[in-house]
Amino acid sequence: MRQIEAQIKQGDCLEVLKNYPDDFFDLIVTSPPYADSRSNTYGGIKPSKYVEWFLPRSEQFLRTLKPTGTFILNIKERVAGGERSTYVIELILEMRKQGWLWTEEFVWHKKNCHPGKWPNRFRDAWERCLQFNKTKKFKMNQESVMVPMGDWAKTRLKKLGKNDVVRFDSQVKSGFGKNISNWVGRTMAYPSNVLHMATETGNKNHSATFPEALPEWFIKLFTDEGDWVLDPFVGSGTTCEAAQKLNRNSVGIDIRAEYVSLAQSKVKEYDYMLFEERVKYEQNQ
Ligand SMILES: C[S@@+](CC[C@H](N)C(=O)[O-])C[C@H]1O[C@@H](n2cnc3c(N)ncnc32)[C@H](O)[C@@H]1O
Repeated sequence: MRQIEAQIKQGDCLEVLKNYPDDFFDLIVTSPPYADSRSNTYGGIKPSKYVEWFLPRSEQFLRTLKPTGTFILNIKERVAGGERSTYVIELILEMRKQGWLWTEEFVWHKKNCHPGKWPNRFRDAWERCLQFNKTKKFKMNQESVMVPMGDWAKTRLKKLGKNDVVRFDSQVKSGFGKNISNWVGRTMAYPSNVLHMATETGNKNHSATFPEALPEWFIKLFTDEGDWVLDPFVGSGTTCEAAQKLNRNSVGIDIRAEYVSLAQSKVKEYDYMLFEERVKYEQNQ
C-alpha cells in the first residue's frame, strides 16, 4: 500500500524551494501572477520588472527539477498601450541563458471564452503553456494522452492523395508517425499541441484558477504514479488536487495564507487515504 503526499506550503516559492534538494521534482506545472494583472488581488509585477522577478525563482525550479523532468509555464502577455507586451518573449530568451531548453509551446484554447468587442483586436481566446526541460531526454508518456481518431478516419484518412505519398517518400526516414497510411484503420491518435479546454468559471475564492483538466493533462503526459509534482504558485490548489487524483505526490506553494487554506482544504480529503481507499472513493464520486 502506498501513501501519496500533498504538501501545501505558505511563502514565497523562492524561499520555500530552498528547503528542497536538487533534482527532486518530476514535473513543475504552474500559472504565475502575470505582469500587472490582478494587482488588486495578489500584487502585480510591472512588465518591465517581470523577467528580473521571475529569474531567481526559475533558478530554483531548474535546481530542484530532475534531469528527466519538465517545467510547464502557463502565461500570456497582455496588451498595454495598444501593443502586446514582450516580457514573455524576453523571459524565454533569458531562461535559455539560465540553462533551460525551450522544448515546446502548447496553446491552451479557452473554448468558453466570452464574447467582446475591441476597436483594434478580437477577443483573446488562448494562452501559452511553455515547455522547458533540462535535457532533451525527458520523460514523456505519449500513450497516456491519446485521443480518438474521430472524423479524421472518415475524411482525411479515407482516401490518401498524391501529396500523402510524396510526403511519405520525402520523410521516409522519419519513421512510423509521418507515414499517413500507417494511421488508416486506427481508432486512437496522438493529440496536437493545441489543448481545447474551457476556463474555470465561478470560483468565488480565487480569481484565476486552472481548469483541473489542464494540470491533469500535463501530469499524465510527463509523470508516472508516485512521482513528484510541484506548483510553486498553487493558488486554490488545482494542481495538487489533480496530482493526488492521479496518485502523484505534490508540493504546492502560495504566498497568500487564504489560498494556502483553500488549497489545503482541497487536498485534505485525500491526504490520509491509502491508495486502495482512494480508488474506491474516486469510483463513488
Ligand atoms: C494565477 S494564480 C494561480 C492559480 C492556480 N493555477 C489555481 O488553479 O488556482 C497565481 C498565484 O501565485 C501566488 N503568488 C504570487 N507571488 C507568489 C510567490 N512569490 N510565491 C508563491 N506564490 C505566489 C498568488 O497568491 C496566486 O494565488
